[in-house]
Amino acid sequence: MPTMLPSLVIDAVGIAVAFLLMFGLWRMSSPVTAPNGIKVAGVGMAAAVIASFLYLFDVSAAAKPHLPINIGLALVALAIGGGLSWWGGRKVAMTAMPQMVALYNGMGGGAAGAIAAMELFGSRAHGITQLGVTLLGALIGAVSLSGSLIAWAKLQGVLKKPLRIKGQQIINAVVMLFTLVAGLYIIFIEQSGSVPILPMQGLIWLFFGCAMLFGILMTLPIGGADMPVVISIYNAFTGLAVGLEGFVLQTPALMIAGMLVGAAGILLTLLMAKAMNRSVSNVLFTNFGDVAKQKQGAIKGSLKPTAAGDAGIAMRYASSVIVVPGYGLAAAQGQQKLYEFVKLLIAAGVKVRFAVHPVAGRMPGQMDVLLAEAGVPYDLIFQLEDINEDFSNTDIVLVIGANDVVNPSARTDKTSPIFGMPILNADKAKQVYVVKRGEGKGYAGIVNPLFYADNCNMVYGDAQAVMAMMIEAVRGLGLSAAA
Ligand code: TAP
Repeated sequence: MPTMLPSLVIDAVGIAVAFLLMFGLWRMSSPVTAPNGIKVAGVGMAAAVIASFLYLFDVSAAAKPHLPINIGLALVALAIGGGLSWWGGRKVAMTAMPQMVALYNGMGGGAAGAIAAMELFGSRAHGITQLGVTLLGALIGAVSLSGSLIAWAKLQGVLKKPLRIKGQQIINAVVMLFTLVAGLYIIFIEQSGSVPILPMQGLIWLFFGCAMLFGILMTLPIGGADMPVVISIYNAFTGLAVGLEGFVLQTPALMIAGMLVGAAGILLTLLMAKAMNRSVSNVLFTNFGDVAKQKQGAIKGSLKPTAAGDAGIAMRYASSVIVVPGYGLAAAQGQQKLYEFVKLLIAAGVKVRFAVHPVAGRMPGQMDVLLAEAGVPYDLIFQLEDINEDFSNTDIVLVIGANDVVNPSARTDKTSPIFGMPILNADKAKQVYVVKRGEGKGYAGIVNPLFYADNCNMVYGDAQAVMAMMIEAVRGLGLSAAA
């Protein structure tokens, strides 16, 4: 193959890949088109990986003897990476998805850091701009790698408690300062040609070590429940790091893909923070649960338990029901049973709809995916802004494994940590049934006055088991599910 052809083909594929990724991302904006969007983006990634093998036709004479071993290593890496992610993707439970995303995101940051490390250790980055961009990409990639691994460990339950020490912010600031000084010193040595106080290789190791330590220290004090927002921030970091390294390698596809991921990560972080009515700095630097616990106010009313069967039969005789799913439904894996119950109600002529809060569950879109997995048609699923006005005209609301997203103190109690967060107006319905195991709090760690309200009854039990009891009770009336 003539020398120019591979790079021309690689560039052409790169541009096509960038379009496939953008198109895929756009399709992911609706649950209806999301599965197709994921496939389109997947095809883009596969094309990018295959095209990168074209570089083999354009290597220097000095590199040629290393080709067989390098191709072998690349194929082994592909087989291990592809095999593990194929297996992991098929096995992962819906509730374990956030930690899987954390792990993949960390690998993205690590990959960006590894590109930078090759440029730095191979002395291939020269000049203030190129060296500066390489180091910046290395810094962000390394922070993203170590931070994401800590996020994974927290979500996986390997690290059980947030590790907070006195003066944490100062220690973090000192470590970051050290990292920046090491980076600037590397640029100074390269520019001035002076003899460094440490061998250059040692300086680069020090730089990476400090950056990774910063990622660890920054993530350790943050509570496990805040991790989805943190992962989203690291996702933005990874994209930025990849984009910067794309600039260093002068690879347009990498630049575009990195910037896409970076921009998507930033937007997602801001949307999540807005839906939780918290600032990003509040997530990063405040111990949310602790603050919440101190601020609980007095609650009027009492908890009124009722039997699952009675609640199920009441819904059978209602004319309209809205179902509000939450984190507990995913934890119980009760979505199939829930939809089985809903089909019984629909077959009996009840108007049933699902109301999804933007931050219900523990990751964006979790409820949409959960309901789609159970086969719930999209036209039964409504987002907060499309259904919130309808709660007051609804006979019964079934809150299943949800808590914070229906907490009315977000509307009324200025001292509540969730004050101002938009909530689903479940409390405005004629009757509310809340399915949960006991008096466990939600993510915000606060009491929910809805549970004590006159129009609310508690149905205690695991979401899946409760749904099975409701199905049995309604079937006992002699009705059958719609086909
Ligand atoms: P939560 O407020 O966390 O409440 C979940 C409830 O489910 C708990 O009160 C728990 O009570 C119950 N539960 C747990 N396991 C259960 C089971 N097996 N069966 C039945 N019930 C079970 O959930 P939510 O209403 O979905 O709100 C989500 C919260 O997470 C919001 O505060 C949001 O800001 C936060 N958050 C969301 C995201 C995203 S992007 N979704 C990211 C970070 C944080 P029991 O223990 O009594 O059963």
